[in-house]
Amino acid sequence: MWKLLRLAALIAMTMQTATGWAQDSALMVRGKYLMKSVVACGNCHVARSSKGEPLFSKGLSGGMLFEDPAFKAYAPNITPDTKTGIGTWTDAQLGKAIRDGIRPDGSVIGPPMPIYFYRNLSDSDLAAIIAYLKAQPAVQNVVEKSTYHMPLPTSYGPPVGHVSTPASTDTLLYGEYLSNIGHCMDCHTPRNNKGMLVLAKLGAGGQAIQGPGGEVITPNLTPAPSGLKSWSDKEIDHAIRTGISKDGSHLQPVMAFDWYKNISNPDMAAIIAYLRALKPEPFGGK
Ligand code: HEC
Ligand code: HEC
Repeated sequence: MWKLLRLAALIAMTMQTATGWAQDSALMVRGKYLMKSVVACGNCHVARSSKGEPLFSKGLSGGMLFEDPAFKAYAPNITPDTKTGIGTWTDAQLGKAIRDGIRPDGSVIGPPMPIYFYRNLSDSDLAAIIAYLKAQPAVQNVVEKSTYHMPLPTSYGPPVGHVSTPASTDTLLYGEYLSNIGHCMDCHTPRNNKGMLVLAKLGAGGQAIQGPGGEVITPNLTPAPSGLKSWSDKEIDHAIRTGISKDGSHLQPVMAFDWYKNISNPDMAAIIAYLRALKPEPFGGK
């Protein structure tokens, strides 16, 4: 009897470990997929060469400078290095930084980190991203502190509670979710003279962005004649993945082409369906 019980207990224990592992690896698979495709934190947190190519060998060790009349912001080192990165931050602290924009010391993370859009990250996708970040090699790299000539908000809203991932079968809702966590509209929506996004004109473009080759104006992604109305799904897919526009011209490498090329076909179809469902707006919302 005792032997049998012990055996049963042993089997139960092994089964628990096995499911624990299976869950861990599913989390890592999801984290790796999101980070290497639509979420693309690396588009800001990976350093670049003078030609604007991502220096993947440096990992997420930061250093990129974002210059704006209102700020000089540097993307910090988010590798698990304990001295120069986020190595001492707990999962909960990292989650609060990414989704609420609040560091462990209580300070607020400034722009251009798109916190406003990351508030939409689901609990499980946030956990997957954190698992991926923690599994990265630690890279020692001291990054300069950002300076802001504008008041930072005291918060980006009330603490985010629980968020679930929409079902991928709900194409429009899932497409909107992916566009949010890929912060597409952070660049493709006009801003007012205070630098705030004009959400009523979502996707209308017209925002000036400093690219490696100078200033670029973001195009209109709504289904208007000045937007993507005449583009086929294939042409939109091709532009997002390769940076080659409908007319064959090369888009400036502001968007995360090196990441977006890994977006799965069903996820890309959901994003395109969402873009097609946006309210048509004239270019720049004017
Ligand atoms: C558009 C560029 C951009 C994107 C995309 C971006 N970040 Fe950031 N991030 C920044 C900048 C710039 C800062 C520093 C802001 C400041 O100094 O207040 C920052 C700060 C942080 C911090 C605080 C680190 C510290 O030491 O203070 C963490 C953590 C972080 N980002 C993680 C992420 C993760 C994870 C993602 C993807 C889900 C991401 N970031 C996407 C630009 C970006
Ligand atoms: C960091 C800012 C930024 C982000 C984030 C971004 N884009 Fe873009 N996107 C641009 C810029 C700038 C261009 C135009 C570049 C040029 O004209 O050389 C562009 C071009 C495009 C084009 C080509 C349209 C045309 O008329 O040429 C499409 C389609 C597009 N983006 C879709 C997306 C989608 C979908 C996402 C999210 C998954 C996204 N973008 C995220 C900045 C961004």
